[in-house]
Amino acid sequence: MNVLGIESSCDETGVALVTIDGGAVPALRAHALHSQVAMHQDYGGVVPELASRDHIRRVLPLARQVLHEAQATLADVDVVAFTRGPGLAGALLVGAGVACALAAALGKPTLGVHHLEGHLLSPFLSADAPEFPFVALLVSGGHTQLMRVEGVGDYELLGETIDDAAGEAFDKSAKLLGLGYPGGPALSRLAAFGNPEAFALPRPLLHSGNLDFSFAGLKTAVLTQHRKLEAAGNVCEQSRADLAASTQAAIVEVLVKKSLAALKATGLKRLVVSGGVGANSALREQLNTAAQRRGLRVHYPELALCTDNGAMIALAAAMRLQAGRAEAAHDYAFDVKPR
Ligand code: KG4
Ligand code: ZN
Repeated sequence: MNVLGIESSCDETGVALVTIDGGAVPALRAHALHSQVAMHQDYGGVVPELASRDHIRRVLPLARQVLHEAQATLADVDVVAFTRGPGLAGALLVGAGVACALAAALGKPTLGVHHLEGHLLSPFLSADAPEFPFVALLVSGGHTQLMRVEGVGDYELLGETIDDAAGEAFDKSAKLLGLGYPGGPALSRLAAFGNPEAFALPRPLLHSGNLDFSFAGLKTAVLTQHRKLEAAGNVCEQSRADLAASTQAAIVEVLVKKSLAALKATGLKRLVVSGGVGANSALREQLNTAAQRRGLRVHYPELALCTDNGAMIALAAAMRLQAGRAEAAHDYAFDVKPR
């Protein structure tokens, strides 16, 4: 079965073709991505209306490219999957509308996919694919969650952020430091030149005894430190790098310790990290070191599939269909769920 997947929830247009063959691991035949980062950069963040318009321009050329690279045609597509939510309503409607139009023209069914399930399952496309069960750390721009995952569609929420997401903490702190959008990668690059112990920043809920997170206070602490530097006339490349490194260290420490606590609480030995913040090298290094010491395994998606992409949407649909956890429909009701 060939699943064409379309992702358009935010600022990346992604299309991919995934093939599932009986019980075998799904194979990624081809994927293509267009990032809108350059377009939104002038505005310091994603402009929803511009995002929708650009998805419309990009999605069909990307689909053509994917089919060409996979040496397939539209006639080979059995199911068209799309991101149903969460995300920007207008942006989601583009992917859903195109998916339903294509599927209706082909007489094939569609399947709407939860964006986060796409992230969650994306490590199954890596060479080092995990096995169920595992604990998942889902860290994106909109979500921070720890989940117990027994199988496809069998998820138990163990803890989540009570305010800002980890990616949001990266982005908002980066903005305070005058770094561009998207802030996470920019802050991480600057942090490489700084001292992570230069500033004492809070680690909220670190010892709360549960698996919830809170990152909203961090940006205030970063702002306070930055203002102190300004007042003292000490804002320079090095002090900004030190503050970036200290910010990253605070976020990473909380993510690592809570992930380890979730593994301990569940007795599971495997951690799967996904979502954009999963691309952060400090997080990967510290998780790997901690895991090695404790005889645990950590799995990540391929770096290119950490942030939003069509491959994870085609994959999640394929895995759900394979597991009998969803049925593709012919109703072409492109209902989206922004929240
Ligand atoms: O998963 P994603 O692409 O989109 C959402 O579903 O939200 O995640 C985007 C988030 C942004 O907050 C971005 O700043 C963050 O992931 N991010 C990073 C890195 N790469 C992306 N944060 C820290 N370090 C990175 N290397
Ligand atoms: Zn995402």
